[in-house]
Amino acid sequence: MYDGMPAQVQAAVPPQLQPAPVAPPAEPAVESAPAEPDTCANCVAITYDDGPVADTNRLLDALHARDVRATFMVTGTNARENPDLVRRMRDDGHTVGNHTDTHPRLPLLDDAAIAAQLDASSAAIRTATGTSPRWMRPPYGETDARVAGLAGQRGLALALWDVDTLDWQHRNAEITCRAAVDQAQPGSVILMHDIHASTVDAAPCVIDGLRAKGLRPVSLDELIPDPEPGHTYVRR
Ligand code: NI
Repeated sequence: MYDGMPAQVQAAVPPQLQPAPVAPPAEPAVESAPAEPDTCANCVAITYDDGPVADTNRLLDALHARDVRATFMVTGTNARENPDLVRRMRDDGHTVGNHTDTHPRLPLLDDAAIAAQLDASSAAIRTATGTSPRWMRPPYGETDARVAGLAGQRGLALALWDVDTLDWQHRNAEITCRAAVDQAQPGSVILMHDIHASTVDAAPCVIDGLRAKGLRPVSLDELIPDPEPGHTYVRR
C-alpha cells in the first residue's frame, strides 16, 4: 500500500508509520580460493636412529625399491665413519637429522658439552651432504628446556615419536613390523633403529603394512615441512 503512494505522499507519512525498510539482499559470499588439498593427511614419518652402519645400505635399497623417503637420525661418530651413506640418504631424498655426536644423555651434560655434541654431529652431516640438518633427536628421548634452547639456537627442531617399536629390545622383524603398523595413526612418528638387521628386514613389511592401512610413509620434512627451531614435535 505504502509502496504504491506517490513520493510526496510517502514523505508526508510520519516516520513511525512508515514500513521498515526492506534489508538489501545479503552480498553473495565471496568464493575463497579452494584450499590446497592436504595431501599429507594420511602421512606417517618412519624414522631410523643411531646409524649409519654398513647394513644401512640395504635399508636404503629397500626404501628405494618402494619409493619411500624416510628419516635418518645419525650420530656424528657414524656419519664420519660412513659419509658415503649419509650422502646417499641426501641423494635419495631422505631427511637426515642430528642424533648427537656420541649418543649421551644430554640433560646430564653442561651447556658447553651439549652444544659440542650438537655441533659435532651437524658438522659431520654438513661435511657429507653440504647441508646443515634442521632436525635433532635427543638420545633416549631425554630432553629438557636447556637442550631445546641450545638446539633452537642452532636452527634445530626436536623430533621425538609417538610410536615406539622397541625394535632394539626384541630385535624381531615381525614384531617390529606389527608394532609399527598397528600403532600408527595419521601424523604419527615411528621410532626404529637401522643398526639392527631385524629392523632392516622389517622395512618392506612396515611400508606395505602402512599402505594397506591407508597410511603414507614419508620423511619428517614431508610430514612437517616448516619445523620451528627449539620446538619439540612428538607427531604432526
Ligand atoms: Ni639413539
